Amino acid sequence: MTTDDAGIGQERSDLGIGMASRKLRHIDACLHGPVQYETVTTGFERYRLAYNALTQTNLGTVDLGTSFLGAQLRAPVLVGAMTGGAELSRTINRNLAEAAQKLGIGMMLGSQRIMLDDPDGTVAASFDVRDLAPDVLLVGNIGLAQLSDAAVPKIAAALDRIGANALAVHTNPLQEAMQANGDTDFSGSLERLRTLAEALPYPILVKEVGHGIGAAAAERLRDLPIAAVDVAGAGGTSWARVEQLVRYGEVRYPAVAEWGVPTAQALTEVRATLPGMPLMASGGIRTGVDAAKALALGADVVALARPLLAPAIESPAAALEALHGFVEELRVCLHGCGADDVAALKRVDLTHLG
Ligand SMILES: Cc1cc2nc3c(=O)[nH]c(=O)nc-3n(C[C@H](O)[C@H](O)[C@H](O)COP(=O)(O)O)c2cc1C
Repeated sequence: MTTDDAGIGQERSDLGIGMASRKLRHIDACLHGPVQYETVTTGFERYRLAYNALTQTNLGTVDLGTSFLGAQLRAPVLVGAMTGGAELSRTINRNLAEAAQKLGIGMMLGSQRIMLDDPDGTVAASFDVRDLAPDVLLVGNIGLAQLSDAAVPKIAAALDRIGANALAVHTNPLQEAMQANGDTDFSGSLERLRTLAEALPYPILVKEVGHGIGAAAAERLRDLPIAAVDVAGAGGTSWARVEQLVRYGEVRYPAVAEWGVPTAQALTEVRATLPGMPLMASGGIRTGVDAAKALALGADVVALARPLLAPAIESPAAALEALHGFVEELRVCLHGCGADDVAALKRVDLTHLG
């Protein structure tokens, strides 16, 4: 299946969703469309966290603090990379940033590609959150497919402009292949990533967008000077579904939309391939229980994206409530399995149900 095939070239021009830009169409699809994997799960449901009825912990003093990418976090949680570029993106980013600041967690922004050709800084305002979140670990974002040596100084300037602490580079060959006019040439992209990592004065985290970094991809990252990996596995939002919905108004190729490395599997594979690499688990992380299992399986932090979209559009209070509930559920998990901090959780047994 290529973009030259007759069938796949017929795009639905009237999506009937009343939103002009692709970014807004993505948001609309994520709010209202069938974008969740239907047959693939994260795999966390196959693990059971050992419950300890004789825990000796005090819920009130369970410490979720950790460090990641050189920053101190009050909980091992980041807001997943989502958006930027439109007025609605500004609302989303600012409401989430305010919540992240209050909770002492981190935040990843959406792709800053749009900032690279924005000399007068018009779209940059949608990424401006530092005034509301002065202490938050803030991670900028760019796509691997769009990397070029010439873009390196522009990326550094975009990160300076928003006051980022680090850069996430997303690799998304399946998403790009499903997208109308997507960037489908990934040849040489590892070398461009190396050039960026060697030149950029910011730590780099490499992530997928929900189809997963597994053993084969992790092997390719082994010798690169990167600071962390986010497995961004399958089982949550499928970007192959999102792009098909935006392009055709339907999921025309469901089999390929269900493809990916499930998050729990991705996590164990990357942990085995890159034992010392700081790891983020994301892709279908929906509850504090999922987060606790991911940490016990070897992640250092977790991130969640789509579940935060609707609350972030609603209000700063709704964004805070969603994230606060998630963090407190994670705290209860540590308490219930006898772990008084994240290091102790990592020593807790997980039963694999087979
Ligand atoms: C509305 C929306 C926009 C997104 N935009 C980006 C992006 O610009 N860059 C990126 O790396 N990931 C992006 N993602 C992918 C998420 O960061 C995440 O990897 C993926 O959605 C799986 O996590 P989830 O199941 O918690 O949604 C986006 C996700 C959503 C929901």
